[in-house]
Amino acid sequence: MKDLMTILFQCPWDNAEDWIALLRARLDDQRLRIYPDIGAPEEITVALVWKPPTGLLASFPNLRLVQSLGAGVDFLLNNGEIPPGVPIARLVDPLMAARMAEYVLAAILRIERRFDAYTRQQANGLWRRLPQRDAQEVRVGIMGSGALGMRAAEVLSRHGYHVAVWSRTPRKRPGVESFTGPEYLVPFLERSDHLVCLLPLTEATHGLLNAHTLGRLPKGAHVVNCARGAHVVDSDLIRLLDEHHLAAATLDVFFEEPLPPGHPFWDHSKVFVTPHASSITEPATAVAQIAENIERLDRGAPLVNLIDRAAGY
Ligand code: OXD
Repeated sequence: MKDLMTILFQCPWDNAEDWIALLRARLDDQRLRIYPDIGAPEEITVALVWKPPTGLLASFPNLRLVQSLGAGVDFLLNNGEIPPGVPIARLVDPLMAARMAEYVLAAILRIERRFDAYTRQQANGLWRRLPQRDAQEVRVGIMGSGALGMRAAEVLSRHGYHVAVWSRTPRKRPGVESFTGPEYLVPFLERSDHLVCLLPLTEATHGLLNAHTLGRLPKGAHVVNCARGAHVVDSDLIRLLDEHHLAAATLDVFFEEPLPPGHPFWDHSKVFVTPHASSITEPATAVAQIAENIERLDRGAPLVNLIDRAAGY
């Protein structure tokens, strides 16, 4: 008889109950523990987690797989709690990529079609048509060429924008210009009317959007961050918005989440805040992927969507 695996589910989200129902349906021949009722820590072999409390993963001596409940894994790598031999997987879900691309398109259209300005005009009862430019005149720069970045690039390019991607390795995609490596960062920034950050958070990308880099964007540029708050130096971004170098920022992710009360982003007239909602993980598709990996682990088959720890994503 095969050994049962004991799977811990730790999820701080409001829809945890939906996940639990789906996990129970898919993993009925395994043992499921719901955080904080973890039972005996030595029994836990698989941890399904989102930003687990410090010390939690280090308390499981028999871990065989850690699975992020999102696309990112930076929160798993930061504290060194997962022993080197334990694989870490992330979610790579076409549905999440489609949702992200839709958010990015909406963020850009909000600025291009002046919905932000019309919202302010309406508040003042003002009837005034503002100039608009066609997609063909607009240059979008996407930082990051993973599943999310490339899907956004395709959708925006299909919409008619001039799209470029900046990444570590060259990318070939019809209709998408590719800028590679640190030496091409400045030319990439200088041609980007809208800058979209979809980078993984690593040592190399921490604080990458700062006064120096954001200052190279064309005057009047718009910054969209859907990756991690720590990519941005908040005070530099605010200064460039206040000095009218940048026209707007659409921010979905923050250094501290939830964004603390009183943070200047909350009531900055040029900042549009969303609550890490650009692409909410879909429990049904995520659970199918997670179950697939657990079944593979069970029968000793290669796991999918593993991250490269050295690269950090
Ligand atoms: C993430 C996600 O990793 O929302 O941020 O999936």
